[in-house]
Amino acid sequence: MSISEENITEVVTATLKSENPRLNEVIASLLKHLHDFVREVEPSDEEWMTGIQFLTEVGQTCDDVRQEFILLSDTLGVTALKDCINNRKPEGATEATVLGPFYRDNATEMELGACISRGDNDGEPCVVRGRVSTPDGDPIAGAVLDVWQASYTGLYEQQDEHQPEMNLRGRFRTDDSGYYQFRTVKPHYYPIPGDGPVGKLLSALGRHNYRPAHIHFIVSAEGYEPVVTQFFDATDPYIQSDAVFGVKDSLITDFKTVDDAQAAERLGVPVGGWLAELNFGLKPES
Ligand SMILES: [Fe+2]
Repeated sequence: MSISEENITEVVTATLKSENPRLNEVIASLLKHLHDFVREVEPSDEEWMTGIQFLTEVGQTCDDVRQEFILLSDTLGVTALKDCINNRKPEGATEATVLGPFYRDNATEMELGACISRGDNDGEPCVVRGRVSTPDGDPIAGAVLDVWQASYTGLYEQQDEHQPEMNLRGRFRTDDSGYYQFRTVKPHYYPIPGDGPVGKLLSALGRHNYRPAHIHFIVSAEGYEPVVTQFFDATDPYIQSDAVFGVKDSLITDFKTVDDAQAAERLGVPVGGWLAELNFGLKPES
């Protein structure tokens, strides 16, 4: 058969004969969209080679601790789209967003009210408190909140030799009324890696590589679907332009200052410290 612009997609698709039907389905769809992309863009030989070299460099930038392909997926919105599709939630359930690359297992379980900041100078004191409930608002006792965040310098502990091991990480369990509370520091915006091929692409596109300040959570409880999510500071300069498209309106919160001396003492922060009230809804397991 003579290969042409018109028939090549059909010809290549006809070669798919895996015994795994899902593999055939995925690759057939990839071929359809990839060929249509090439038909639309009509890349020159040089442009095609630029694309090949870019992907090569993305692969070569990956190592044990760095995953440039995930960064590419994140910055093109593919990760956020995949997460939307895989986490369709009913009304009243907290929306999911990207896990990110800085999660670490086995954070210490701490008493309610304890502080996850283990450093001497981590930034501005902040209390985070709220409730975990069903979508209908019934409290969930014994729900576990696995929490992690960057310090005021915008670095996670594993990126920063000045922070103690497991700094700004902890796990908390809700009380009988579904409430939790812990102390931390106000998070700060930070850049995703900008020194590799993905960073160069963002610069070439006139995009920055910053994420707005946020606190990460995985909230789980027996009988409910766990949610991987983040809460964002409404006043952050990058709140409308997250480099990885993780922000959702329902996940934006006001960090309030605690100006009353008695309230500050009760919450365990100095006057002028911060308070974030974050409530979570969990979807029952289906
Ligand atoms: Fe993060």
